Amino acid sequence: MKIREKSVPGYERVVLGSDEAAGYQGIIAIHSTALGPAVGGTRYWSYITEDDAVTDALRLARGMTYKNALAGLPFGGGKSIVMRDGKAADREQLFRAHGRMVNSLAGKYFTAEDVGTSPADMEYILKESAYVAGLQGRSGDPSPHTARGVFRAMQAAARHKWGSDDLAGKTVAIQGCGHVGYFLAGELARVGAKLIVADVDAAKVKRVVDEHRATEITTEEIYAAGADIFAPCALGGVLNDQTIPQLKATLVVGAANNQLLEPRHGDLLQQRGVLYAPDYAANAGGVINGCCREMLGWQNEKRFQHIRQRTGWRKNGLPLSARALADQIGPRLPGSGRQRKRVRRCVPSCKFQTSISSWQRPSSWLRGWPVLWMDHRLD
Ligand SMILES: NC(=O)c1ccc[n+]([C@@H]2O[C@H](COP(=O)([O-])OP(=O)(O)OC[C@H]3O[C@@H](n4cnc5c(N)ncnc54)[C@H](O)[C@@H]3O)[C@@H](O)[C@H]2O)c1
Repeated sequence: MKIREKSVPGYERVVLGSDEAAGYQGIIAIHSTALGPAVGGTRYWSYITEDDAVTDALRLARGMTYKNALAGLPFGGGKSIVMRDGKAADREQLFRAHGRMVNSLAGKYFTAEDVGTSPADMEYILKESAYVAGLQGRSGDPSPHTARGVFRAMQAAARHKWGSDDLAGKTVAIQGCGHVGYFLAGELARVGAKLIVADVDAAKVKRVVDEHRATEITTEEIYAAGADIFAPCALGGVLNDQTIPQLKATLVVGAANNQLLEPRHGDLLQQRGVLYAPDYAANAGGVINGCCREMLGWQNEKRFQHIRQRTGWRKNGLPLSARALADQIGPRLPGSGRQRKRVRRCVPSCKFQTSISSWQRPSSWLRGWPVLWMDHRLD
């Protein structure tokens, strides 16, 4: 295994590894360990160049710092990528090589599943390193918990936008019917929402269509679908100059990380009257469940309550993600004084805006609450 360091301003460590015999090429980015060891999944995906993969790892690692801090977890942010090269891979060799990379960081970084990886891959990592979560027979697949959190955030957004969290009869366009998209479709079908779905993988669409009577459309049509809510559950960067003008939905709540291509796209959504639930607030259910079970040893009910509170509406006190949702814009993140302090420890450059203009406090419960601005740019 060859490991080289890359110096990136604003990041604690970025390491690139390769193991020719295993056909492995991978990246681990640690954004911050100010609150504890960095936690973030492993993505198995193909990229045109190694630089593209590094950029993705950096954006994802930073997002994990925000997510873990906002979720009240004693962990920092990191992420890793195993590059997919199109050839048939020996998954055991590949993920054991990745396990050796993870192990070389001596506990500064813990991994779990992400796009393209499963609990079985985590078992391969475990053969080489103890710094892995999301294992079979323990917290397992995080996706049902992530989907539950996205569903809760959707209810909170609906309550803010339409005065009720009842999603019966609402139409939701789900982009991506993979792990999270599938479970989210189940949650929505259960409460009587109508579903429009798209995926590049026909088998994944068919499963949701068959099980939940969803309507299938093409991946190009999904943005302009006649839906109330758009749920990005595939990849990042899908909210951009080309797609935002097509949106008919007035709520965007989904699982994908880094949905905004650039921070200004949060402003564009807000100008068009679209309420956007920041991805790192809405999709925290999986990481909360995995970390709380495997690293903090919390029992089921305590974990599930934490997920409910951190992603959805709360009766007493200001609901966390409802405040996030009310901002109507991605890069702005609200939070109580304690939450702001936690995030500021990890991202010293983040700015607080204490004078709130009228459009930023659409209802009285926001009054007086400073809004935390987060700068998502990789500078
Ligand atoms: N799994 C989790 O618990 C979790 C937690 C937090 C965030 N996320 C994020 O949520 C997203 C989905 O995660 P997942 O675990 O369901 O991944 P997944 O790989 O199981 O599913 C992604 C799906 O998107 C599809 N897809 C890819 N490109 C597409 C396109 N252009 N149009 C439509 N569909 C497309 C894929 O075919 C796949 O079915 C990712 O961005 C991931 O980082 C996942």
